[in-house]
Order: sequence, then C-alpha cells, then structure tokens
Amino acid sequence: MNSIPIAYACDGEGICGKCWVWVEPQKNTSKEGSLERRVKQANSIPVTARLSCLVRVFGEVKVRAPYW
Ligand code: FES
Repeated sequence: MNSIPIAYACDGEGICGKCWVWVEPQKNTSKEGSLERRVKQANSIPVTARLSCLVRVFGEVKVRAPYW
C-alpha cells in the first residue's frame, strides 16, 4: 500500500522466505502461524522478523528490512 519495495521469489506463497522484515509494534500484527514459523526456521530468519506476505497489519506500524 505504501509502495515499499519488498524482496520476494515465490509471489507471496509463503515459501521462499525472501520477504522478511521487522514490523513494530508486534501488537498491531497478526499472530505468527506454523507456516511462517517453519519458513523462518528453514531460512535462518531472525525470530523477531515477520514474513511480509503472511503477516497482517491492524494498525500503525514501522517496517524495516535488511536490504533497504
Ligand atoms: S514472498 Fe516468499 S515467503 Fe513471502
């Protein structure tokens, strides 16, 4: 929605793990599901990061990505 470039390689299927970002505060986001947890573990993604294709946002958030 904010035209922020997000890396990806699976078109948001929750497979590649390329789209990870930090989103704060986490209280304004959906809970992490088992798919997101598995993809993060398989790709050595920090536990506090979220997959932008799977996380849902319910309020104002600050987003950071390691590749910006
Ligand atoms: S775009 Fe591939 S896991 Fe999110």
